[in-house]
Amino acid sequence: MLRLHCHPDGLASTIVEIGPDLRSRLTEFVIALRAERPCFVLADPRAVVGLGLEADLWVEGGESAKTWPQLGATLEALAAHQLDRAGVVVAIGGGSLGDLGGLAASLWLRGVGLVMVPTTLLSMVDSSVGGKTAVNLPRGKNLVGTFWSAERVRIDPEFLTTLPEPEYRSGLGEVLKVAIGLDAELAEHCERAHAALLARDADAVGIAVQRCLEAKIRIVEADPREGGLRRLLNLGHTLGHALEADSGYAIPHGITVARGIYHVLELAERTGHCGAADAARGRRLLERFGFEAHEVPAAMVLRNYLVQDKKRQGARIHAVLPTGIGSSKVVSMDLDGFLQGID
Ligand SMILES: NC(=O)c1ccc[n+]([C@@H]2O[C@H](COP(=O)([O-])OP(=O)(O)OC[C@H]3O[C@@H](n4cnc5c(N)ncnc54)[C@H](O)[C@@H]3O)[C@@H](O)[C@H]2O)c1
Ligand SMILES: [Zn+2]
Repeated sequence: MLRLHCHPDGLASTIVEIGPDLRSRLTEFVIALRAERPCFVLADPRAVVGLGLEADLWVEGGESAKTWPQLGATLEALAAHQLDRAGVVVAIGGGSLGDLGGLAASLWLRGVGLVMVPTTLLSMVDSSVGGKTAVNLPRGKNLVGTFWSAERVRIDPEFLTTLPEPEYRSGLGEVLKVAIGLDAELAEHCERAHAALLARDADAVGIAVQRCLEAKIRIVEADPREGGLRRLLNLGHTLGHALEADSGYAIPHGITVARGIYHVLELAERTGHCGAADAARGRRLLERFGFEAHEVPAAMVLRNYLVQDKKRQGARIHAVLPTGIGSSKVVSMDLDGFLQGID
C-alpha cells in the first residue's frame, strides 16, 4: 500500500492510499468505516457490479449525476439519513459521483467529512484530489461548486477491469496530459509500458496513477485555488472543452483533451515554444495510445465555445503550451493566434 499526502494551504489535507484488494474487500471497508463513524454511502451501481455493496443512495455516473435537481435529491437523502456533523459522505464512483458527493458533503450541515473511492481512471489520476466539487447548470458545466477536499481517497486499479473502453481511454488522455506537460519520467513510463497500460495491467496503471497524483499534489499544494500554476493542469483543455461541448458531451472528456494536446503541441512548435523533436515525440506518444490528429470542427464553431470559456480573459486566453516533454508554460494569446492551424 502506497500513501501520499496532500497538504494545501487553506484547504483541508487529503490522505491518498493506492493499493490492491480494496475492490474485492469493498464491503468490508465500508462496514469498518460505518463502525468508526456515521456514514452516508453514495455509489454508482455500474462501478460496483457483483460486489454486494449496500449504498444509502445509488446514482448512475455521467453528467446526469451532476445536476441541480440531483444535488437537491442528494441533500434530501442526507436529511432523511440524519447524517450528523461527525459523519462522512463516502462517494464510490467516477468523477461525476465525486463532484456530486463532494459538493453535497460541503453543503450538508455546512460541511461534513468526505471519503472517495474513485472507480474510473480519470477520477483516480485527477478528480479525487484537489478539492474541486461541482454540478452543472443548463448554461454550462461545473458552474456551481465549492472547494472541499476528501479526507481520504482509496484507490485500487482493479476497479478499472469493468470500465468501458472509451472511459478508460478518457483517463489515459489525462495521464498523457501529465506526462507531456509535467512529468518526463511518466512520459518514459508511458512509452515503455504502453502495451501494459493499454491492457490495464494493475502494476503499470498503479505507477501511472501514483505519478499523476504526485504531480497534481505538487501543483495543488503550491496553488490551492487556481491562481496561476494550477492552470498547467489544463494542458489540452481549451480545445478539449470546446470539442466536448460541441459533441453534446458524447465524447468522454479525456479523449477530447488528448486531441487538444495534439493541437497545442503543433501550436507550441510553430510558435517556437517547443522544439520539433519534443513536439514529434509528444505526438508519437499520443498516437501510441490510439489518439490521432482528428478532424476538428471549423474554427468558427470552436470560437463560439471558446468565447464562453470561463477561463477566458477578454480577447485573450491563457494557452498552456508544452515547452518540451514533461514541461509546459502558460502563454497569454489572442484567440486568433490560438485558433491558427485549426480549420
Ligand atoms: N473535481 C475535479 O477536479 C475534476 C477533474 C476532472 C474531471 N472532473 C469531472 O469528472 C467527471 C467525469 O468523471 P469520469 O470520467 O470519472 O466519468 P463518470 O463518473 O461520469 O463515469 C463514466 C462512466 O463510467 C461508469 N463507471 C464508473 N466507474 C465504473 C467502473 N469501475 N466500471 C464500469 N463502469 C463504471 C459510470 O457509470 C459512467 O457511465 C466530469 O463531470 C468532470 O467535470 C472533475
Ligand atoms: Zn481534464
